[in-house]
Amino acid sequence: MDFINVTPNYQPHVALIALNRPKELNALNLQLMQELKLALQALDNDDTVRAIVLTGNEKAFAAGADIKQMADKTAVDMLKIDQFSTWDQIRKTRKPLIAAVSGFALGGGCELAMTCDMIVASETAMFGQPEIKIGVMPGAGGTQRLTKAIGKARAMEMVLTGKFIDAHEALSFGLINKVVPVEMYLAEALNLATQIAQMSPIAAMLAKEAINRSFETHLDEGLHFERKNFYLTFSSEDQTEGMQAFVEKRKPNYQGK
Ligand code: CAA
Repeated sequence: MDFINVTPNYQPHVALIALNRPKELNALNLQLMQELKLALQALDNDDTVRAIVLTGNEKAFAAGADIKQMADKTAVDMLKIDQFSTWDQIRKTRKPLIAAVSGFALGGGCELAMTCDMIVASETAMFGQPEIKIGVMPGAGGTQRLTKAIGKARAMEMVLTGKFIDAHEALSFGLINKVVPVEMYLAEALNLATQIAQMSPIAAMLAKEAINRSFETHLDEGLHFERKNFYLTFSSEDQTEGMQAFVEKRKPNYQGK
């Protein structure tokens, strides 16, 4: 892999993916996104991994889709390249995925962070959808996910003016989970991933799927979907172990079975 570094067991049961195009502020070119898709698929299929942290570097999580790669494209070129089918696959990652964001998370970078299930940010993080400033608009989910996360008025302002928000604003708007000093953002994200990795990976996967379903359906169908997944957890050994451990007043030892 040229543009990402993948460490499957960076910590027990926790994988780390680091975007690695530092000179370009981790601009998301087609190859990087393809590598990311393949890495996430491999980690999804790796039974030793129960949670994944996605990060950039201190200066940039990612400064957006690669503008230089897109600058001379026509609509038909973009249609044929179909870059967002890669994003669709990334969205289908079944294991919990946490973004550890420092510095710029702009355009596709903000959209990639929002594609993750949770966001831990450093105090230096800046979030924005500045596509309007280069004559386009968000294309990887920004108008939808940002609006659902922070509401119409704030999303309109960010998308129509291109203004950035800092980590504290992002936290108060409900876009992210935590803000910590820059020295701690990665450790904090790994800590959150480790907490999740101690749970039943089957229950975590089914719960993630049910929460995501809430964005795509009405309440009645969402509750029905949740119930089916809840019942499904009862077919796992982890359910037996979790409930038995509670009764025996000991810590559960989940096997992901
Ligand atoms: N694409 C390609 N290259 C990029 C880039 C991007 N999105 N963002 C930064 N770079 C490159 C710069 O061109 C520069 O390269 P050179 O040294 O070869 O000139 C290098 O990264 C460092 O960037 P700057 O010198 O600009 O760094 P800065 O600290 O002065 O500014 C910044 C940082 C404010 C993030 C600025 O780089 C910037 O505005 N970047 C573009 C942000 C943007 O518009 N993102 C949206 C992209 S479109 C999109 O994402 C569509 C979608 O929804 C999928």
